[in-house]
Order: sequence, then structure tokens, then C-alpha cells
Amino acid sequence: MRTTPPVTTASGIPVADNQNSITAGPRGPVLMQDFHLIEKLQHFNRERIPERVVHAKGSGAHGTFTVTHDITPYTKAKLFSHVGKTTETFHRFSTVGGERGSADTERDPRGFAMRFYTEEGNWDLVGNNTPMFFIKDAIKFPDFIHTQKRDPQTNLKSPTMMWDFWSQAPESLHQVTMLFSSRGTPDGYRHMHGFGSHTFSLVNDAGERTFVKWHFRTGQGIKNLEAHDAVRLAGEDPDYAQRDLFNAIATGNFPKWEVSVQLATEAELAAWEQRTGWNPFDVTKVWPHADFPRRPVGMIELNRNPANYHAEVEQVAFSPANVVPGLGYSPDKMLQGRLFAYHDAQLYRVGTNHQHLPVNAPKCPFHHQQRDGAMVADNGGAAQNYATVQAAGSRPQGFGHGDAGWALDGAAGRFDGRGREDDYTQAGNLFRLLSADEQDKLTSNIAGAMAGIAVDIQRLQLGHFTEADAKYGADVKRKLGL
Ligand code: HEM
Repeated sequence: MRTTPPVTTASGIPVADNQNSITAGPRGPVLMQDFHLIEKLQHFNRERIPERVVHAKGSGAHGTFTVTHDITPYTKAKLFSHVGKTTETFHRFSTVGGERGSADTERDPRGFAMRFYTEEGNWDLVGNNTPMFFIKDAIKFPDFIHTQKRDPQTNLKSPTMMWDFWSQAPESLHQVTMLFSSRGTPDGYRHMHGFGSHTFSLVNDAGERTFVKWHFRTGQGIKNLEAHDAVRLAGEDPDYAQRDLFNAIATGNFPKWEVSVQLATEAELAAWEQRTGWNPFDVTKVWPHADFPRRPVGMIELNRNPANYHAEVEQVAFSPANVVPGLGYSPDKMLQGRLFAYHDAQLYRVGTNHQHLPVNAPKCPFHHQQRDGAMVADNGGAAQNYATVQAAGSRPQGFGHGDAGWALDGAAGRFDGRGREDDYTQAGNLFRLLSADEQDKLTSNIAGAMAGIAVDIQRLQLGHFTEADAKYGADVKRKLGL
């Protein structure tokens, strides 16, 4: 039997009896003056915070990042300053479409979010286990996600909504191909790669920018679940991935990922775009490794389980906007939308002062004039709560300074790329990369998911498969019985 210290109220007042309410006589009624009972019921009623609007089901762990290779010619970010340097990290893996209690083994991309507590502030890299994404403009994100969630009337997941959206957004085909391959049902979180997905920047001491794609290669090897096992486990052990990650770390079997980068200058990307026709800042595309080889940078090890799930994993608030000096964004339209969305979501989901929570607070000194609001933990004490022009000064190497920026051209407007951008070649390349057995699983998974939806949606989507690769289209068509 567990022994626990005697119970107090939240204000620390010892409670005489935590099992019997104060009543008028042995049969009641209950008296208002049982403040302990009332406080206990009140707090219980407020235990839940809103779940994440996406990526609601997840698992987290603490870890360390160690530099193994020098990239100081490309970035001045201090976490990369010398080989052997280590930085504390926090990670959260997730599924995307399901609710907080949904099954870990659903066919879905997996979130791969990382926080690096650097001496220059928190760097968050909020990626997925896929190097590309379904759409390339944030304006489509709420619509896309609605198709992955529940029908407004039936409250059921709807393959019709999903394929209706995908069939009219052929830029999704590349990731749809990955999603319905075996990579769509990874065997827990330890056996998958991670990707920053977007193009980001590195900036060196001289202010020179190099564009970068981040890669995280699993040290445990890729392992996927067979589609039928994923379905079975969803019933038998819906928390399969949480259990696997927690137990691995608890028994000292620390999972690792090799961190690597693909690098390119603006001029190299311009030449590549000229040759391939692909926009290097389009998140529905990858940079082929033959054109931009991966270079090793470091190693991540997850080595400490959270002491408390809610405090750490549920309340952690990652934002792609959090980059430290020496790291930066790119013109990627989707990334630009994400720079707004996360902090905004967390102001609602966790609260105005979510950055005060231990898992979110930087572990370096910080000075800003944001004050007050609900649930303040550290309100700056007696420090001045306003900035003056003179005192604020400027930091030439700080956020938003110290690099040459990137070139922009064209008039402001809404640009519709439909019919002018190549949505098919990379999706076809991915299909052709798969073994015959993997192609067979892919087309069977797709046919299974598309069965029963309206034939006009099926035909529209079949056109996309065929455009990517004739065999891809023909196999799905045959399996659909069309
Ligand atoms: C414009 C497109 C997108 C928007 C508007 C968006 C928005 C959001 C929002 C609001 C959250 C919940 C944040 C929170 O409550 O803490 C979230 C979570 C997440 N998103 Fe996105 N997202 C977008 C695209 C992407 C892409 C392209 C990726 C991956 C490359 C991604 C990866 C994630 C991950 C991993 C999480 C979970 C973070 C965690 O574990 O706490 N999202 N997204």
C-alpha cells in the first residue's frame, strides 16, 4: 500500500477527514461550511484544459542534444558553437486528427515537436514524421483539418470529406502517398524519422544566410505496423505508443535520433528551381538527397520521462516562431501562417502566461516588459515594466537583426498556382521508390479507404494517381472495382 502524507487543502490547511463530508447528523444534509469538500469538487470540475485543436493525443519526454559535427560556418546559434556541446531538450510526439483519448496506432502523420532550451532562448522545431505536407497555404488549413475530424451532423469520421478535399487539392498527393504507405502506421514513436519539413534558415556571424531542411533519423531503425495490426492494437492497446516510449525510457533504453541538415544557398536554390520547376519553399515538395545531400550535425537522446503528464506534456506549448539568433524562417507561405497560429492557440488553450510554466519558460535569463494577466508566476518583481528608447537599445545579433534578409519580388496579391505547379512528379517518384510489395500495400490501403465514397470523387482522385504514375492509378482503380 502506498503511504502518502496527511492531506491538506490547497492552501495548506491540514484536513481532519478526507473520507467523510461534514453533515448535519449521520445521514446529512451536507453543510456549506465543508470548504474542503467544496474546494475538492470545484477543482475537479476544472481539471481539463482544451485539448489541442490538432495533435491532441501525444507523448512526451525530456532529452539532450549533442553536437557531433561543426556547422559554425553556417550558423552563429550558440547551441551549435562546438562539437560535444549539449543542450537540454523536450519532445512531444503525437497523432494529428484524433482526440485526446484516440488510438495511437491510427493511420495519420505523427507530430515530431522539439524544444531546445538554449542559452539564447527556446528554439522550437515543430515537425512531423513526413518531409512534406498536404497543403502549401495556411488559408486551407482549417478546411483541411475539418475533413480529418468529425462530420458536423453524424459526429463520425468521414472518408467522403477527406477524399472530397484531397481530390480537389492535388498538391496533397505527395503526402497522401506517404500516409497510405506503411509509414502511415509507425510502430510507436521510437521507430520513425522526424523532419522539420519546411525550409528554414541558418545565419552565420557574417550575416550570410543558408537555407536548411532539418532531418532526424531514428537510431532504432524504421519499423511500421501492418495495417491490420494497427487496427487490432487500436482496440487492444490504444495507448500503444505512449506505453512503448515511457517503458523504453523507464528501463534505460534511451531512444536516439541522428540530426542532419540539407543546406543550400539562395543562388543554389534559384538554379535548382530553374532546372526542376519546383519552388524550394513549397512544403508539399522535398529537396531530393541527390541534389542536396544530408550532412550530420548532432544526436538527440531521450533520457527522462516527465514527472507529471499534465504539467509537462499537456501544457507544453511549442511554436515554430521560436527561433534563436543564427536560425530563421523562409518565405514558405505555410510556415508564415504557422508563425502566427501556435502562440495564438496557446493563449487560448493554456493561457496568457503559458510561457511562465516550467516546461515552457526559457532556462536562460530573460527580460521583457510583459506583465500581469491570469496566473502570473514570475511578474518581474520590482524591475522596470516599460522600455525606453535609450534603455532598450538594440542588439545587432538578436532576433530580426544580423542577416541580409532574402530577396522579394512581385506585386502583393492572391496567387492561384493551380494548373501551373507540378503536383505529380515527386508523388510519382515516391511511388516508384517503393518495392512491389510496398506499392501493393499502398494501393490496397487507399482502395480500402476510398471504398464507398461517391464515384465522382473516386474518379477525380484516380486521375491524380494516374497522373503521378500510370501503374499507381491502374492498381487503385482495379482494387476499387471500377
Ligand atoms: C498553416 C498550417 C498549420 C497550422 C495553422 C497549424 C496549427 C497548429 C495548431 C494551432 C496546433 C496546436 C498548438 C497548441 O495548442 O499547442 C498545432 C500543433 C502541431 N502542429 Fe501544426 N499547423 C499547421 C501545419 C503544420 C505542419 C506543416 C506541421 C509539421 C511539419 C505541423 C506540426 C504540428 C505539430 C507536431 C503539432 C503538435 C505540437 C505539440 O506536440 O504540442 N503543423 N498546429
